[in-house]
Formats: sequence, C-alpha cells, structure tokens
Amino acid sequence: MERLPVEVIRSLKSARRCVILTGAGVSVESGIPTFRDAETGLWTDFKPEDVATPEAFERYPERVWGWYEHRRRIIAGAAPNAAHYALARLEDYYEEFCLVTQNISGLHRAAGSRNVLELHGNIWRTRCSREGKIVDYRLTIGEVKPPRCACGAYLRPDVVWFGEPLPQEELSQAYDATARCQVLLSIGTSGVVQPSASLPVLARQAEALVIEVNPETTSISAFADYTIRGKAGEIVPALVDAVLS
Ligand code: OAD
Repeated sequence: MERLPVEVIRSLKSARRCVILTGAGVSVESGIPTFRDAETGLWTDFKPEDVATPEAFERYPERVWGWYEHRRRIIAGAAPNAAHYALARLEDYYEEFCLVTQNISGLHRAAGSRNVLELHGNIWRTRCSREGKIVDYRLTIGEVKPPRCACGAYLRPDVVWFGEPLPQEELSQAYDATARCQVLLSIGTSGVVQPSASLPVLARQAEALVIEVNPETTSISAFADYTIRGKAGEIVPALVDAVLS
C-alpha cells in the first residue's frame, strides 16, 4: 500500500467538519461490481438508458424490475467491508460529519454509520410509480415481476434513474455540509454523474482540502489536493486508524 501522506493525516486530524463522498468503488471489496468497469461493471450488458430510466420502466417493467432484482440479490449476499466499518468509526471524531453516498445498497448504515445521505435512493425501498409515495412492501429475493401498489400501478425501486431529480432534502443537506466542511474525502467514485460529482468541486471552492482514494485516475484527481491510489478496503482503515490514534 502507498504510504499515507503526513499532510493528509494532519489535516484530517485537525479538521472539525468533514464530508465523505462515496461511490461504487467503496463496495467493490464487498463483492458489488462498479458501474463503469469495462469487464465487470454493471453497465456492460445494458446501456443505462435501457434499464435505469422511467421510460424504460414504463415500456419494459419486468426487465427493469428484474435487473434491480439481480442487483438486490448481489447486495443481499454482500456485507460491509473494512472501509465501511472504518468510516462508521470516524463519525464521532468530528463536530460535524456527513457521509454522502451515491450507493443504493444500504451498506454504510449496516456498518453503523448514522449521518448518511443517500443521494441516489435505496434499493430496499419501493415506491408507487404513479403516486410517488413510499410503500412499505416486503421484498422477497427471487420476485421477478414488479409488484403492484394498492392503487393498481406498479411499485418501483426507490432509486434515482437517469433524467430524474435527486431527493431535494438530501441534496440540499449535502450541499450545506460541503460548503461548511474543512475536508472532503472522496472514495471510490469516478466523479462523472452529476450533481454528486459537483460536491468535491464545491468543497474546493469553499477552500476545503479535497482528498481522493481511488486506484484509478478520475476527473476528481485533476483538482484534488491529494490522491491516494489504492483500494478503499486497505486505505480507508489505515487513514482512520491514523486519525484516531
Ligand atoms: P463508477 O462505476 O462510475 O466508478 C467507480 C469508481 O470506483 C472508479 O473510479 C474505480 O476506479 C473505483 N474503484 C474500483 N475499485 C475500487 C476499490 N477497491 N476501492 C476504491 N475505489 C475503487 O461508480 P460511481 O462513481 O459510484 O447512479 O457512479 C456514480 C453513479 O453512476 C452511480 O451511483 C449510478 C451510476 O449511474 C445511478 O444509478 C443514479
């Protein structure tokens, strides 16, 4: 593993307000594929617009529901990894701490994180495709057809699809926390999907230190103050241990 820059540890230690931004890369070591990896990524078999849009669900509800069923199955068999647990340990160190995630798996909460903003929703919730309200529906693994709401319309996963707005309350809390933070740690995101990708930019404009953890170069690498190349499951626990020691 690459040596952790002393300045990064010092800044993480001295900050009082910290924002974490996570993407699919934080869950790779839990066995959940990313989206854009050329060989194993979730978008390799489908174009996103074939499965992750409201129009696709309207035309092919079973295909879209089936794809989310496939993802639920993967997530159901996955457990939080060392990075998720380390981030949960970090939360109480700061006066203000906010974990903003683009992931829909619920693994951060499963690891014990409390102040989590899920910008792209949660795959374990369903909502009515007509009325928009969250419906308490007991999902069972293997259910390949979309269930129906009491109103007769299909239920859909409570996730954000392409072309849809993000949940306003979560997004505005994420912007507020980012504008106030002294350090933003971006972990395992390619930084290509807006508006989540604008958070590290906003942090930089607000003169916070931007630190990236990612094995690959991303659009965030271009302006981050520090990039630590490596796997989240190795780097993040080491960083957190150093901060808490
Ligand atoms: P991507 O698949 O675009 O990017 C995943 C990132 O994780 C890449 O930059 C990888 O280099 C990195 N990575 C891979 N293995 C890693 C590891 N072990 N540790 C750390 N990083 C690792 O996923 P996101 O950036 O999360 O949105 O994608 C953002 C959004 O695009 C998703 O939330 C999803 C998708 O469209 C919706 O579905 C609305």
